[in-house]
Amino acid sequence: MRDIFAALDLNETNAGAWSGDGGWSNDTTGPVIDSVNPTTGEVLGRVRSATVADYERILVSSRRVFDQWKITPAPKRGEAIRLVSEELRKHKSALGSLVTLEVGKIKAEGDGEVQEMIDIGDFAVGQSRMLYGQTMHSERLLHRMYEQWHPLGIVGIISAFNFPVAVWSWNAFLAAICGDVSIWKPSPKAPLCGVAVQKLVNRVLERNGFPGIFQLLIAGNELAEKLVEDRRVDLVSFTGSTAVGRKVGERVAARLGKSLLELGGNNGIIVDEFANLDLAVPSIVFGAVGTAGQRCTSTRRVFVHESRSKELEQRLLRAYSQVRIGDPLKPETLMGPLIDDASVQRYLQAVEKAKHAGGTVLCGGKTKPPGNFVEPTIIRARAEWEIVQTETFAPILYLIEYQSLDDAIAMHNASHHGLSSAIFTDNLRHAEKFLSALGSDCGIANVNIGTSGAEIGGAFGGEKDTGGGRESGSDSWKAYMRRQTNTINWSRELPLAQGIDFKV
Ligand code: UN1
Repeated sequence: MRDIFAALDLNETNAGAWSGDGGWSNDTTGPVIDSVNPTTGEVLGRVRSATVADYERILVSSRRVFDQWKITPAPKRGEAIRLVSEELRKHKSALGSLVTLEVGKIKAEGDGEVQEMIDIGDFAVGQSRMLYGQTMHSERLLHRMYEQWHPLGIVGIISAFNFPVAVWSWNAFLAAICGDVSIWKPSPKAPLCGVAVQKLVNRVLERNGFPGIFQLLIAGNELAEKLVEDRRVDLVSFTGSTAVGRKVGERVAARLGKSLLELGGNNGIIVDEFANLDLAVPSIVFGAVGTAGQRCTSTRRVFVHESRSKELEQRLLRAYSQVRIGDPLKPETLMGPLIDDASVQRYLQAVEKAKHAGGTVLCGGKTKPPGNFVEPTIIRARAEWEIVQTETFAPILYLIEYQSLDDAIAMHNASHHGLSSAIFTDNLRHAEKFLSALGSDCGIANVNIGTSGAEIGGAFGGEKDTGGGRESGSDSWKAYMRRQTNTINWSRELPLAQGIDFKV
């Protein structure tokens, strides 16, 4: 642990606020947040929360930096991100280990998260030369129309504990090449990740003359609410629960600000009568057990055709019995702990509710003390039960049998959430139906690939209670810019649109 702290320049107690103008805050009046290792319960380090004065400094500094950054040519902005992405490559292992220590995901997934930062960094560098607008043909003689994309302003990024570094980078790197300045409020459950990333980017950006484009605000709810309600924050990008996201969306909408919401998922996989189980089984296990079921893309529901139900059940049980649970830093471990005791309690309550509804626990269902460890769990269930309709952030998988594909799709879509979905089939018609307007209603729909572990090149996000936002690849960058439509008259006349005659 010492090595990791040294590599990432972390101290036992760290400031939690960084502004472009003031640097690290030395205001010691904010409450101290303990970073607790969910594997052992030990305190890894401490972070001093930002104060109201820090908040104000950060907002003022962000605006000042924005005034310069917005006129910096976009490919130059891309160059700043290229340098950051290179630095991340150098620190991949140390930062990946910190993710593992602070939130308990296994080392391979911690490193994978840093890889995701590197990937979106590279993507953003390319995108910085492709902030394309369209041209239109004017209906008027000797007129030209086009649209262009301008920097939006200040982007508030509120991220969750389960992807404590990658989700920031999806937002911050695109925001940066778009000419925005971002203020990051990380999860209070992963404050050291926030400090470590800020230190890492500061080193590169200060050296290369681009300081202040990323600012840090580690704080509790009070300052988070201030950020949401602050008219100076042009876009609030929030990742977290549907309950909190709904409030964020409402409050930002009340001031007519922009929000980008990445909320919960109750992701389902359909395994039909033509499915290749050699693909389906490991995908389901990774989706349900990976990150201990604490991804917004985690697989929570499997709809299996009645003809394959027994076979799938047996193969899943065999695979689950081989899941090695333990210290997430050990290379052989496949599942670490849940983030905290409250999550363990929610896991236990969900198992109880499922049993009460008539569910059969096929494996798991119990805690594995000491610490926040639980057993990965499979429960034979029915789709309409309230608990099956609820996103529980834990490794609980509901197995649901079906007879016709239309029924399976209907059950699948009956969820309030709409993030990620998949079908395992070798039948072309079934695959195409699932991807068509008759099929999955989610933002992500896959064939013969599980629900989690999306690549950064696609737009990431989902419908309904998932919030509707899209981050990461494709044209998600547009959320971080403002669109302007321009009409230019290069004639000597002044014809009005729609042929209106208005002469005085
Ligand atoms: C999240 O859980 O908040 O697709 C994001 C995935 C990851 C991102 C998950 N690339 O599982």
